[in-house]
Formats: sequence, structure tokens, C-alpha cells
Amino acid sequence: MKQKILVVATVALALTSMASRAELTFRNAITGQPLDLSVAKKGGDTEAFKQFKETGKNPYNGDKEAVKKGHDIYMTACSGCHGHEAEGKLGPGLADDYWTYPANATDQGLFEVLFGGASGMMGPQYVNLSNDEMLLIMAHIRDIYKGDPKKAKWLKK
Ligand code: HEC
Repeated sequence: MKQKILVVATVALALTSMASRAELTFRNAITGQPLDLSVAKKGGDTEAFKQFKETGKNPYNGDKEAVKKGHDIYMTACSGCHGHEAEGKLGPGLADDYWTYPANATDQGLFEVLFGGASGMMGPQYVNLSNDEMLLIMAHIRDIYKGDPKKAKWLKK
């Protein structure tokens, strides 16, 4: 009897931990096809990214250290097309509240455009950046936001 209870408890525990590890499906912003995260650049599967995969919330938002790192990576990887202040250049501005892809007002949507790209010159960034680096850049983009706070969906639960 004791053994039976133990087996039941173990199975229940395994099921709960599986459920809590469930990952969101990330989709290409244009095609809607699921993104294949297995092609990600090595080294980006950090604790922060593991958490993000489950919650769709960027744990680096508001983290000063992360925002600074994200700023530095943004300057080399994005500013050439989006401008140093993300004011827009060849690509659109990223610090205001107008989005070509409205899902960019959520962290999941923003990651989807970064990882999988959008149209034209906005290619998939997984080629050059790890998933963790993308989260750092995203935290920087949220940090310099100048739009309407009510439209900042990533801050909502
Ligand atoms: C070679 C130029 C180029 C580079 C480099 C580039 N982008 Fe873009 N980006 C674009 C263009 C052009 C678009 C518009 C594409 C579209 O509308 O589909 C765009 C679109 C976007 C969008 C969607 C904006 C919206 O209004 O919905 C986001 C977010 C974005 N880029 C973020 C980034 C970030 C972050 C980086 C750096 C990791 C980056 N881009 C690097 C050219 C670039």
C-alpha cells in the first residue's frame, strides 16, 4: 500500500513538473509558422530564456545591468538600420507606440520578429544573436520607450 502511494505521488510530481515546463509556441510574424528554436545560436539557453519560453515575459525588463548590455548589442546589431535612439532610419522606429506588427507590444511578439525576422531587410536575427542576447536587446528597447504607457502591453499581466 505504502509503495502504491509512493508510485502515485511520483507520477503526480512528474506530471506537474512537466506541465510547469510547458513552452509557448513562437510563430513567424509574417507566415504564422511555428519557429524552430533548435536552430538558435549556441549559448543563449540561459535561465532567463528558459523562463521566457514558458511565460512570454522578458525577465530582463527593468534590470539595469541587462538593459546596459542590451544597449551595447543594439548599437552593433540594430542601430545601423533603426537609428541610435531607435528613432527609425531604414527600418521603423522602435521606441514609439506605433508597430507595423501590433504583437510587438508584447514581449512574445517582439521576440518572434527578432528571431524569425519580418519582411525585406529585417532578416532573422538568430543567425547573429543568441536568444539571450535578443532578450537583452528587447529589455533595452522597452527601456527607451517613449510611447503611451497604456499601450505598453508587455507590462500587463
Ligand atoms: C539591415 C537592416 C536592419 C537590421 C540590421 C535590423 N532591422 Fe529591424 N527592421 C528593418 C526593416 C526594413 C524593418 C521593416 C520590416 C517590415 O515591416 O516587415 C524592420 C522591422 C523591425 C521590427 C518590427 C517593427 C514594427 O513596427 O512592428 C522590429 C521590432 C525590429 N525590426 C527590430 C530590430 C532589432 C532589435 C534589430 C537588431 C537585432 C534589427 N531590427 C535589425 C531593418 C533592419
